[in-house]
Amino acid sequence: MNSEPQSIADYREAARKHLPRFVFDFIDGGSGSENTLQENREALDRIRLLGSAPANVSECSQAVRLFGHEYKMPVIIGPTGLAGAAWPRGDLDLARAAAAQAIPFVMSSAATVRMEDVAAAGAGSKWFQLYVFKDREVSKRLALKAHDLGFTALEVTVDNAIPGRRLRDARNGFSLPFRWTPGKLASLLAHPSWTLQMARNGAPGLEVMAAELGLEPTETIAELMQSLLDPSVEWETIKWLRDLWKGPLIVKGMLDPGQVKHALKIGIDGLVISNHGGRQLDGAIASIDILPEFRKAAGEDLTLFIDSGFRTGSDIARALALGADAVQVGRATLYALASGGERSVRNALAVLKEELKVVQILMGARTVADLNPAMLRRHAPPAQMLAPVAGGPAPEAHAVLSLVTGGAPNPAP
Ligand SMILES: Cc1cc2nc3c(=O)[nH]c(=O)nc-3n(C[C@H](O)[C@H](O)[C@H](O)COP(=O)(O)O)c2cc1C
Repeated sequence: MNSEPQSIADYREAARKHLPRFVFDFIDGGSGSENTLQENREALDRIRLLGSAPANVSECSQAVRLFGHEYKMPVIIGPTGLAGAAWPRGDLDLARAAAAQAIPFVMSSAATVRMEDVAAAGAGSKWFQLYVFKDREVSKRLALKAHDLGFTALEVTVDNAIPGRRLRDARNGFSLPFRWTPGKLASLLAHPSWTLQMARNGAPGLEVMAAELGLEPTETIAELMQSLLDPSVEWETIKWLRDLWKGPLIVKGMLDPGQVKHALKIGIDGLVISNHGGRQLDGAIASIDILPEFRKAAGEDLTLFIDSGFRTGSDIARALALGADAVQVGRATLYALASGGERSVRNALAVLKEELKVVQILMGARTVADLNPAMLRRHAPPAQMLAPVAGGPAPEAHAVLSLVTGGAPNPAP
């Protein structure tokens, strides 16, 4: 029997077994009622694929060009803070696995290792995710340091004016540094291999931020972030970063296509359409549902990335067909990291690539650019489901499958 995980769902299960409950919940959980966390999956599942056989798919490539570089597949390991809680110095394993699979890795400002160490981990493309801190000089220093260390793109996160209410973390008392309450100690005993790993390597800390900001202990990680992050970030602030950073500048955490005009005006290179994996605004729209409006507003002038809920090659194909240039993954590679470090992350990326290849072949798409909206149908009509709440058209009960971009309902077979 092959015990190697075969899907990201398998890796999630392996992570659930390996990690103490408070760490698994920190990774797996969302904000509030976790309505958006769930919606991210449901929205992707609502989109169905048209297999367009017959088509000559004897050759099939997943390669993509982003900011002038060719990558093996349209997947990026997105920024995830505190990865060292999943695996000791896990940020480095993520960076090395991304390099091995020839895709970019985005280092988080909330990483558990130094920027110098990530810069030296593997020969792949490294991007740096920047938070705008209340002390803007800290953000400026980090951006300049990222440049000096060879990080080639800067990704500034804007959906964190205040941390979402993560109820699992509050209930579990997920503090930094970790505080060993009786509940946590019981969980440690039930997960001896994780406990041993942490005993050998020390509990993780936010190395980049600690070096710059001198962190005070807080009740929850959300409280810590709230004390440091600047809630007054606006397009003027992004313009300041645009003037500072000469390479590709990406804005992460956008859900309102009405904002695209500002990004174009100040010369942003890329956007990440994201609800932060359902960890911020509970009730937010699934990013896949708003992607077509972003592509329409941006034309071909912006590189569009998307994240939140992507777990399979088939999910990735849906986003590419709707106009995304690539997909960022968060939990998918974190689950793998928690299961077995770099080796498992490499394998999880290989799984995603293989899944994407199979979907492409069965959909008749020789290249990722061949994927297009005409290859998709949605269970419920989006123009009606997602019309502005006031004055939108009334839903039509008979229209069960429709074009995903809001076109006319599919004729009945
Ligand atoms: C444990 C964890 C930590 C995260 N830390 C950060 C971070 O430091 N900076 C950031 O911009 N986004 C962060 N995110 C959000 C991810 O970059 C991404 O938007 C989200 O995970 C995408 O959803 P997915 O996990 O369903 O793929 C984090 C997500 C998780 C799960």
